[in-house]
Amino acid sequence: APSVGLVGWRGMVGSVLMQRMQDDGDFDLINPVFFSTSNAGGAAPAFAEGAGPLQDAYDVDTLAKLPIIVTAQGGDYTSEVYPKLRDAGWDGIWIDAASTLRMADDAIIVLDPVNRDVIDAGLQRGVRNFIGGNCTVSCMLMGLGGLFKNGLVEWGTSMTYQAASGGGARHMRELLTQFGTLNAAVAAQLADPSSAILEIDRAVLNTQRSPELDATQFGVPLAGSVIPWIDKDLGNGQSKEEWKAGVETNKILGRGGDAGNRIPFDGLCVRIGAMRSHSQALTLKLTEDLPVEEIERIIDADNEWATVVPNTKEATLEQLTPVAVSGTLQIPVGRIRKLEMGPEYISAFTIGDQLLWGAAEPLRRMLRIATG
Ligand code: HSE
Repeated sequence: APSVGLVGWRGMVGSVLMQRMQDDGDFDLINPVFFSTSNAGGAAPAFAEGAGPLQDAYDVDTLAKLPIIVTAQGGDYTSEVYPKLRDAGWDGIWIDAASTLRMADDAIIVLDPVNRDVIDAGLQRGVRNFIGGNCTVSCMLMGLGGLFKNGLVEWGTSMTYQAASGGGARHMRELLTQFGTLNAAVAAQLADPSSAILEIDRAVLNTQRSPELDATQFGVPLAGSVIPWIDKDLGNGQSKEEWKAGVETNKILGRGGDAGNRIPFDGLCVRIGAMRSHSQALTLKLTEDLPVEEIERIIDADNEWATVVPNTKEATLEQLTPVAVSGTLQIPVGRIRKLEMGPEYISAFTIGDQLLWGAAEPLRRMLRIATG
């Protein structure tokens, strides 16, 4: 079995990755070598029987002995270690959850149920860098890939409802702490059915606006609010998260660049108080006027995880919420209907677990392809 270096396996994305690899028996196919940025010499995790002690994740010589390295350690680690490895002549396969290398010409964004052809062609011509996509983009393409792959999307716009986990573990804790603080501020009035709702509302707002409320991670309160800006300000009115939607969607599909066949894809990215599943509302202009049943059939048939939710209130409430989706690999796609703008315009709403298809799953599947 090939030796595979694993870096950043203890963090949130890394832990989900390790769990998925155990669930699907990936460790039977590899000889894992665990690295640590802080605890070299320590014991390997209990789930990996027989693995040697933790290696130093900054030791380029040790890393360079491995044919494959998988990292969920984060962008700073990639920026520091990856160039040194290549400078040392390492030509192994680098599989990375961080965005650092995503848009590089010598990197492929991995989402094999959507772009296995792009991945295979890359492997053939010697590409060695395989990077997980932005979570929102990956979840969107897992749901609507059928329409994109069949050339049916003229342009698209995605308005997102992104969960706290996209910011990181501390962001999830902060959201829950805020919910608790808000509840505590009005608990007595809530317990009294005859208390005045507008007074409760005023007390909540005062608590949200209080400098005492911990909003260190998000910068402003998220509990009971929304934040319509994610990632850096690019200075042109667009957030970096919004830029990623367009460039990564096209790169995953093998479009854009010189080919000039880019699909315009843009919209607003918004943080909401969900835990770990990203939702998005889409408007697509299709290249033809297809019946809704045909659109649904194409979406549903594309891969085993995309599932059409009937466009009824009952099915939507039951199947099309972050609460219904979190912890599963299902990518429900619902609210599919023709819009008033014309017969080629459709709406859709889709949700994906940001830590599964949005982060861990494409990486472990790429590892299987690389070791296959
Ligand atoms: N940028 C994403 C977010 C997370 O903040 O939700 C990972 O792609």
